[in-house]
Amino acid sequence: MKLGEKGILALIGISIVTLSVINYERNKDQKVDPGIPFFSTSTEELSRQATDLIRRENCRDCHSLWTIRDPLQSVPAPMLDGIGILHDEDWFFRYLSAENPQAILPSRLKPQYRMPSYARLPEQERHTLAQYMASLKVKEWYRDRVVKAEHSVLTGKD
Ligand code: HEC
Repeated sequence: MKLGEKGILALIGISIVTLSVINYERNKDQKVDPGIPFFSTSTEELSRQATDLIRRENCRDCHSLWTIRDPLQSVPAPMLDGIGILHDEDWFFRYLSAENPQAILPSRLKPQYRMPSYARLPEQERHTLAQYMASLKVKEWYRDRVVKAEHSVLTGKD
């Protein structure tokens, strides 16, 4: 190999190392996007059945679930994403079965915006919904925000 060729190779080598170092330094301070914090532990079958019920009963008229909340949404209902960290399946079943859900979870809203009673639904459907609600979880790093958001929606205070 001629001296000139060696020089060129060395130069290419140095450039690659320099560029890698610059790139590393640049990325070092950037926060890694931790992704969507919500997930469900539900089976596909349960998820399909529950989603059908949620659609049929229009739960999303008031609640957000797997979506960013529409800022024009008129009912300030708690979001259902991550709700499974706040109550267990038995609680959800009792809540959905209550003739007066506000006896379990007090409301600050006008009656027409409050959580309706789903006691009229067949027991099996209430179980499906309760089981699915309990499966809606949130990753640890986002937990506090979900708890805070629920509190401020329910009470109107921070
Ligand atoms: C008319 C609006 C409306 C509809 C429709 C509605 N909800 Fe609600 N829901 C609310 C409100 C508002 C609350 C908060 C308590 C209150 O103010 O009564 C609530 C509370 C809840 C809670 C407890 C949340 C918490 O923070 O502990 C769950 C779970 C829930 N709803 C599930 C459902 C499901 C499942 C459906 C459909 C089958 C549904 N909701 C339909 C308005 C609604």
